[in-house]
Amino acid sequence: MRIPTDRQIRALHEKHAPTWAVFEHVYTHCEIVCGIAEQLLARIGPEVDADLVRAGSLLHDIGVYRLYDPATGARDHTHYIRHGLLGHELLAEEGFAPRLRRFCSRHTGMGLSRADVCDQGLPLPVADYLAESAEERLVMYADKFHSKTAPPTFVTATSYAVAVRRFGEEKVAFFESLRERFGEPDLTPLIQGYGHAVV
Ligand SMILES: [Fe+2]
Repeated sequence: MRIPTDRQIRALHEKHAPTWAVFEHVYTHCEIVCGIAEQLLARIGPEVDADLVRAGSLLHDIGVYRLYDPATGARDHTHYIRHGLLGHELLAEEGFAPRLRRFCSRHTGMGLSRADVCDQGLPLPVADYLAESAEERLVMYADKFHSKTAPPTFVTATSYAVAVRRFGEEKVAFFESLRERFGEPDLTPLIQGYGHAVV
């Protein structure tokens, strides 16, 4: 499988972003998630494919662009949960391999199970959208430390653990198991570099 370069991924973002402002918002978040994942990767060791993690981090939210109405420019906030699947579809249309597409569809929260889709009535085809490989889990975990809110914020592990509790104790337990496995990132250099607040 060919892994796209940073330049190719950035070009793909530029191609699909509805405006420059949306591109900057989404791509900056992806860069930050990549920085966090690489920081954690340095501690994990060679069993995780670093090139795949980098590409997956930079691609994971590309489906957000498809939430924007091309005619009005408005974002569909009610179907935000679909951005992962939309990214998976976008990458399929662009000819990307399943291993790359899965970073989009399997990074939401602590993963969406078939039961989550049914019980919460989510606007998704009933299926499991769970991070399975170490690379997918690392990207999903790194994503939890930065949020594309307006303005964007960094999120501490403690804050995320509290926030995810509303989705059930098993989500908290999974987050804690990843926290144990991958460790906590040092957000300080990223906070200083990007100037986003911490919650
Ligand atoms: Fe993300």
